[in-house]
Amino acid sequence: MKVLVIGNGGREHALAWKLAASARVKTVYVAPGNAGTAAEGGVQNLPIPADDIDALLAAALAHRVDLTIIGPEAPLVNGIVDRFDEAGLACFGPRRGPAQLEGSKSFSKAFLERHSIPTAAWQSFTDPAAAGDWIRSHPMPLVIKADGLAAGKGVIVAQDQDQALRAVDEILVQQRFGAAGQRLVIEEFLEGEEISFICVAAGTQVLPLATSQDHKAREVGDRGPNTGGMGAYSPAPRVDTVLHQRIMDEVIHPTIQGLVEEKIPYLGFLYAGLMIDSSGNPRVLEYNCRFGDPETQPILMRLRSGLVELCEAALEGRLDRYDAQWDPRFALGVVMVAKGYPGEYARGDEISGLEQAESDTIKVFHAGTRQQTGRVVTDGGRVLCVTALGETVGQAQHQAYEGVSTICWRGADWRPDIGWRALAQQQTQKPENETL
Ligand code: AMP
Ligand code: GLY
Repeated sequence: MKVLVIGNGGREHALAWKLAASARVKTVYVAPGNAGTAAEGGVQNLPIPADDIDALLAAALAHRVDLTIIGPEAPLVNGIVDRFDEAGLACFGPRRGPAQLEGSKSFSKAFLERHSIPTAAWQSFTDPAAAGDWIRSHPMPLVIKADGLAAGKGVIVAQDQDQALRAVDEILVQQRFGAAGQRLVIEEFLEGEEISFICVAAGTQVLPLATSQDHKAREVGDRGPNTGGMGAYSPAPRVDTVLHQRIMDEVIHPTIQGLVEEKIPYLGFLYAGLMIDSSGNPRVLEYNCRFGDPETQPILMRLRSGLVELCEAALEGRLDRYDAQWDPRFALGVVMVAKGYPGEYARGDEISGLEQAESDTIKVFHAGTRQQTGRVVTDGGRVLCVTALGETVGQAQHQAYEGVSTICWRGADWRPDIGWRALAQQQTQKPENETL
């Protein structure tokens, strides 16, 4: 069969790599892909941007693609699945309606409230003066969020009133995020530890994937500005069997049930970003209507059963009887970034040492890379995700940094502490609370 993956990041390289390993898959097309997908056996890049839905549909029809998997949120929120469905093409991802869970913060907050799913207290505003009045009458810190998609940059954690008022001005008045900032959400700041909870959902059926956690902050110790993700690992020792059950009962089941009741049933990867407080209570920070990046990379390195089979089980309503098989080892991915990221950074720097970095247990997933006259050069802020398997978090971490140490380009940078929470938690874990 032929499969099309849409997107060009590390997540899409991992999806394509896993799909190409299947004996049933003849060709994986990736649109537009990167230098990593271009070099992968059985994978072919198509030079079509991930947001050009007309051209993607035409390519899927021309290549007689049997299954399409959508990586990023923008085409999902813009209705790519509705278009593929109308054309009779199997497409794995939510339609435009349920993708609003990520496409609009006010939609997702109202949804959480309607279905009594725990989340931070919130208000939404279109009028800057009203937002300012509300800020002046509430204790700090507060979190200010542009309503629409803002490429991960639309969330500001404001420590004081001035910062909160500036954020409101930037979003609503200066329109820094364009149409995505015609409305904003202000919410209570939640303390705790963040985890990523990613499932495959299909109507009322849901299959939680292996647990994972990412590091969103740029600097050591989870400090500094937020990024798309500086590294991730699976499983997440924080998510023991007790917490896993609570998340399923209090967040995931009410979510998919709520979507069915509202007649926008979900199909695809569903990602709940959760804050776990010191008493172990989960609360939803956000929904994503897609697989996480970089969580996909360690999760798929642990998936032993097929990805095509998993998608087919969901598309054919057999998810409740489907059993995914996981490698019991830990997987940990370190994101190598271009100097300056998440701010300004250079592109076009030649990367060396890519082949030497890989082994049976180490895989280099590309994100912001492209081929240029036979060389691989940087082409984005997050450039690579070096992902490794190990018997323990410590071993997986050691292996991943071994891989990182062979790779070089001008301005390469990375966090040296990916997995620090997991290392600490594994040392204190009670044996009866195994991780999943
Ligand atoms: P979001 O896109 O809504 O998940 O926000 C991006 C990041 O901002 C999250 O991953 C958290 O690190 C942080 N964040 C968002 N909302 C809150 C909140 N209510 N309390 C604390 N941190 C938050
Ligand atoms: N790793 C965070 C995200 O995919 O949004």
